[in-house]
Amino acid sequence: MIPPSDHPARPVAAITGGASGIGLAFARRWIQEGGRVVLLDFSPSTLADAVAKLGPDNARGLAVDVTQNDTVLAAYASIDATEGRLDTVLNAAGIARPAPSADVSDEDFTLMLDIHVTGTMRSCRAAYPLLKRTGGTIVNVASVAALTGMPGRASYTTAKAGIAGLTRTLAVEWGREGVRVNAVGPGYVRTALIDTLIAEGKLRDTLIRERTALGRFAEAAEIAEAVHFLASPASSYVNGHLLMADGGLTVDGNWY
Ligand SMILES: NC(=O)c1ccc[n+]([C@@H]2O[C@H](COP(=O)([O-])OP(=O)(O)OC[C@H]3O[C@@H](n4cnc5c(N)ncnc54)[C@H](O)[C@@H]3O)[C@@H](O)[C@H]2O)c1
Repeated sequence: MIPPSDHPARPVAAITGGASGIGLAFARRWIQEGGRVVLLDFSPSTLADAVAKLGPDNARGLAVDVTQNDTVLAAYASIDATEGRLDTVLNAAGIARPAPSADVSDEDFTLMLDIHVTGTMRSCRAAYPLLKRTGGTIVNVASVAALTGMPGRASYTTAKAGIAGLTRTLAVEWGREGVRVNAVGPGYVRTALIDTLIAEGKLRDTLIRERTALGRFAEAAEIAEAVHFLASPASSYVNGHLLMADGGLTVDGNWY
């Protein structure tokens, strides 16, 4: 039985990595449509800032580390008890840790897979019973790294390709329960994750602009728009799809 809720009528989105970047941009987009969000993220102080920006009537923050299954389970139990419904999940928690493949440690490689692939799986698995009740949706965040080879990004490209594979399998496994599962593949967005790589000299912004057919970075709000399409009934017959929102980066064969 669905417990009583203070916000029974508002569609609820749970967002891992929701305190920053793409996750936070989607939170704004969901709220704009009248929804409520629960942000599942690392740091309590970043979460508190994000909730203050979105408004406490619209958002709630829960300290979750997606590598720790007990925190993920507790978050969805809390959503069930407090919001009483769940309509969509965006799995956007992620980090980047580039290293030459010959030097990458088992520890770093495994951590990237744990956060991105197993973390996404933990969240999907815990959300599934709630999403079955609403015929809800899941959107996982992949990347151009899911489709391309990138020197010095072995763990990231492997993790993002893994997310694409996981998305396809959950889509065919859960489709008959009315739960659609899709992924978005962003190109480059100037979030904290990318700003850090640029500051560390591990990414050059001029090269990104040159390599992207639209000639610029994406705004986080543009990626949120693609996520919103996949999360909403506008995409009611789209299931298991990886929607690239990359400014034409992965289809660009203009090398001459
Ligand atoms: N920014 C880009 O250009 C870009 C491109 C393609 C894909 N992505 C992907 O988009 C997603 C969001 O990244 P972003 O660019 O918005 O970066 P961001 O750093 O702004 O946001 C990532 C959020 O994930 C949270 N997080 C990290 N590890 C976590 C964990 N173990 N448990 C819970 N939360 C955790 C962080 O605290 C942060 O709030 C990531 O999966 C990233 O790989 C980003």
